[in-house]
Amino acid sequence: MCIIINKQKNTFHLCNEEISYIMTVLPNSQMGQLYFGKRIKEREDYSHLLEILPRPMASCIYDTDKAFSMEHIKQEYGTFGATDYRIPAAEVIQENGNRISEFCLHDYRVEPGKPKLPGLPATYTENDAETDTLILGLEDQQAGLRLELTYTVFARGGIIARSARFLNHGGQTLHLSSAMSLCMDLPDSEYDWIQFSGAWARERYPKVRRLEQGIQSVGSLRGHSSHNHNPFVILKRPNTDESHGEALGFSLIYSGNFLAQAEVDTYDTTRVLMGIHPNGFDWKLSPGEEFQTPEAVMVYTDRGMNHLSQTFHSLYQKRLARGYWRDRERPILINNWEATYFDFTEEKLIKIAEKAKECGIELFVLDDGWFGQRSSEHAGLGDWTPNLDRLPEGINGLAQRIEDMGMKFGLWFEPEMVNRDSDLYREHPDWILAAPGYRSSHGRYQYVLDFSRKEVVDCIYRMMAKILSEAKISYVKWDMNRSITECYSAALPPDRQGEVYHRYILGVYDLYERLTEEFPQVLFESCASGGGRFDPGMLYYAPQAWTSDDTDAVERVKIQYGSTYCYPLSSMGSHVSAAPNHQLNRNTPLRTRANTAYFGTFGYELNLNLLSEEEQEEVKEQIRFMKEYRHLIQFGTFYRLKSPFDGNITAWMTVSSDRKEAVAGWYRTLNGVNMPYTRLRLQGLDPEAEYEVEVRGSCERGTFSGTQSFRIGTRCGDELMNLGLITSDASSGQNENAESCDFDSRIYILKAK
Ligand code: DGJ
Repeated sequence: MCIIINKQKNTFHLCNEEISYIMTVLPNSQMGQLYFGKRIKEREDYSHLLEILPRPMASCIYDTDKAFSMEHIKQEYGTFGATDYRIPAAEVIQENGNRISEFCLHDYRVEPGKPKLPGLPATYTENDAETDTLILGLEDQQAGLRLELTYTVFARGGIIARSARFLNHGGQTLHLSSAMSLCMDLPDSEYDWIQFSGAWARERYPKVRRLEQGIQSVGSLRGHSSHNHNPFVILKRPNTDESHGEALGFSLIYSGNFLAQAEVDTYDTTRVLMGIHPNGFDWKLSPGEEFQTPEAVMVYTDRGMNHLSQTFHSLYQKRLARGYWRDRERPILINNWEATYFDFTEEKLIKIAEKAKECGIELFVLDDGWFGQRSSEHAGLGDWTPNLDRLPEGINGLAQRIEDMGMKFGLWFEPEMVNRDSDLYREHPDWILAAPGYRSSHGRYQYVLDFSRKEVVDCIYRMMAKILSEAKISYVKWDMNRSITECYSAALPPDRQGEVYHRYILGVYDLYERLTEEFPQVLFESCASGGGRFDPGMLYYAPQAWTSDDTDAVERVKIQYGSTYCYPLSSMGSHVSAAPNHQLNRNTPLRTRANTAYFGTFGYELNLNLLSEEEQEEVKEQIRFMKEYRHLIQFGTFYRLKSPFDGNITAWMTVSSDRKEAVAGWYRTLNGVNMPYTRLRLQGLDPEAEYEVEVRGSCERGTFSGTQSFRIGTRCGDELMNLGLITSDASSGQNENAESCDFDSRIYILKAK
């Protein structure tokens, strides 16, 4: 990895073995983009890559020149008002109302390693040799504004991390009405755009469409990254598939309002923008003040979508997630939410926990309803003190009983919210986000605390820290169950109201930072009505997240599949729940619920006492299986094999780093009769190795079991990857032994001999 600076030719070349990222200083001293893609050799001169053609209708910079127009030049950080008509990366309003900016290169520096972004989540290094960072210092003299564009190139992987920082060193007050983290001008538009969209309980479905002239974007104005769209998009070449071809991934390490956008211009170049959503954003920069954007990560691959995802997985698993739990196998947990909802007593919880312990579960999590007057959605949020009617010895007493059983104890919080029926609200009604003169809308009867105010965050911190330090708590589920409305802070002046959304998220990050620092061994799991804040920003503080409130196995396969495009399995909370399922009323086999949930951070979300003895035995075997394979599943190399969005069969697998072991999941939505022969091409194996292959679930001989493995035989790695594993089954309609069914699934286990 290195950063090569050619002072004569004014070029900057960031590279490692896989990628090159090349920029140049343009004749007007602004920064031009020359190339981002597969590694190319260092050359003396790249000036031929700078395309400047005279174009009809162009507005030009120089009096004597009819070609030099910013409209047609690929740039690093396009700005508004001076010949570039595309959507800019930033917009700055000066005291005289001027919105035109011109950022010219003033200085630059190269630093080993990677600087931290104060108050914001970001990728990091463990030693300086892992990355190099280039910081370009640009100046808009007229505005008295300095812009620092930061580029970090990693030694391994096609990764460039970027962010921007604005420093007002002039004498006037400025307003940033847009400040993107990333602007990337690509030379053509032959891409499929993939976004990850959906809704509550059906998050992150990949949606693919061809880029066309005009703007394609996704974003959130909900105050959290949202179920609706994820801050991650892919541009892939039309012929790129999971194992071949070029793709670019763009991911924003941020949990609030965001925009991800591609604008294809008249000449088929593409501008990608990513950052805080400019709608509702207005950051006042008084003289001497600075503004730091969140970090955006770009990944390039020419080896297909699985490779793109694997690059994000290892980066986010090892250099975004932090702390004690980063590299550790995650505890198998039981959560009481779907088992009891608000209807529980300590004794009821203990019975659930006892059965869980008997089955081998390691962590008992008490969800919503343990505090204040919280016996329904209407009351209690904000009062983080135990309800002694339900828990006579408080959290301390319950946690101790669970610990005495030999399990760890975890607890649910929703720190950012308050019910009107709570002591906190009665004492501080002005602590919610609310616009003067307007009605305050609720979501689930709750209101959003103004986390842009330090005293509010401090107060919640004190309540949470007290509980965490008094009781033996090993895990926290941090929930957030509504989007923000009436985003107005009573504590900020009128000309700073455009800062509230971002200041709110900074407050959330601040609370996370304080708690994770003070309680480093507590495992944090983030949640926002399931996957409403399933983003890289959260991963920096909480190494796992509740993937979705939808626990139906068939739906979960889709949600988890879509999530794997960016996020590692170690980040995905995935639990076995009851049948019929509480969201869809669907019955799926217990084995399928587990076979789906294994591919994440495994757990249960039901009352195991209500299962038959046979099912309880199956659960014990599932837990035994997961304990044996969770390291491989959670930390192995993950491959998508067959998409639930393309057909009846879904398949995926993880492979150990030495390629000696692999576990594959196979899921079939509907059963069929007299079905065609089928094969599944595996990936990532050692072509030379011979693997012993076993199956759990229905198999080609018509046997099935949720608890037993059946030996298939010895197969060669090259055969498994090229011919495929035979997966045809015996449900021909004439075989009486065939016990396969709708929503069936199997786990294949491969071990090199
Ligand atoms: C939404 C979460 O996603 C659920 O798992 C549960 O914790 C409820 N909130 C509790 O209110």
